[in-house]
Amino acid sequence: MPKRKSKPRFTAKNSDRHDLYQRSVQAPEFEVEFFDKTFKKLRKRRPYSMREDFCGTALLCGHWVDSHKKRTALGVDIDPDVLQWGVENNLKPFGEPGNRVTLAQRDVRQVTREKFDLVNAMNFSYWIFQERAEMVRYFKAVRKSLVKDGIFFLDMYGGWESQEVMEEARKIEGGFTYVWDQHSFDPMNNVAVNYIHFRFRDGSEMKRAFKYVWRQWSMVEIRELLTEAGFKKLHIYWDVVDGSFRERKKMDNQPGWLAYIAALV
Ligand SMILES: C[S@@+](CC[C@H](N)C(=O)[O-])C[C@H]1O[C@@H](n2cnc3c(N)ncnc32)[C@H](O)[C@@H]1O
Repeated sequence: MPKRKSKPRFTAKNSDRHDLYQRSVQAPEFEVEFFDKTFKKLRKRRPYSMREDFCGTALLCGHWVDSHKKRTALGVDIDPDVLQWGVENNLKPFGEPGNRVTLAQRDVRQVTREKFDLVNAMNFSYWIFQERAEMVRYFKAVRKSLVKDGIFFLDMYGGWESQEVMEEARKIEGGFTYVWDQHSFDPMNNVAVNYIHFRFRDGSEMKRAFKYVWRQWSMVEIRELLTEAGFKKLHIYWDVVDGSFRERKKMDNQPGWLAYIAALV
């Protein structure tokens, strides 16, 4: 019998942009393990309560509560639609652990009374704040939301290639291509406009599925602003070997790099 050509699983028409995003850029299991390990090392105890700022679909919240039965999470995002998507597609499928996640539709700069062991802002989302005063205001709000031995985790990228106008394509398991489009970079204010596109095996494309207008902050600027906001000690973890982060105090410059900051109250 002639072999029937299998239909491509993902096409622009049948795919959901949040699902494609999660498959392409998020690594929640890795991040939960990294937070757990780093917190234990720095604070000599395990963290239980987490707030995920700019949580989007709250995938990380789901994995956090699933990693320990005492764990709780609050996901904060300004967009009600993405939160609803997260409830339906991420939290409900988790079953009971998903009930330990609360989602709040609000601005992350709002100070709340509830305090957390750990707050995180992942995938560079906090770069939406483009002025120093605005960033310090956000960092101060985070500091006030942490317990006295709490930790704020942030990620960063940089290197000279990160300021180049270019497109980078990566094949994703399941059969589609994720395209990171560094569309423009203004050296007057370091504001970059980036897009994510998705391309599919049937030739279709989901163009500009996501858009980001970010100020590309440098490591030294973020360190200074965290200190100005009152964080007492900062630890920097550099992606030294692909996907393996190690604490570093000094680095040689690189064309492209990724790092996590652990900011201690
Ligand atoms: C790049 S997504 C982050 C998704 C997810 N955290 C991740 O790690 O991939 C950025 C999210 O930030 C949200 N957002 C933007 N400005 C915000 C603000 N001021 N307060 C709360 N959420 C905000 C957007 O609605 C969007 O869902």
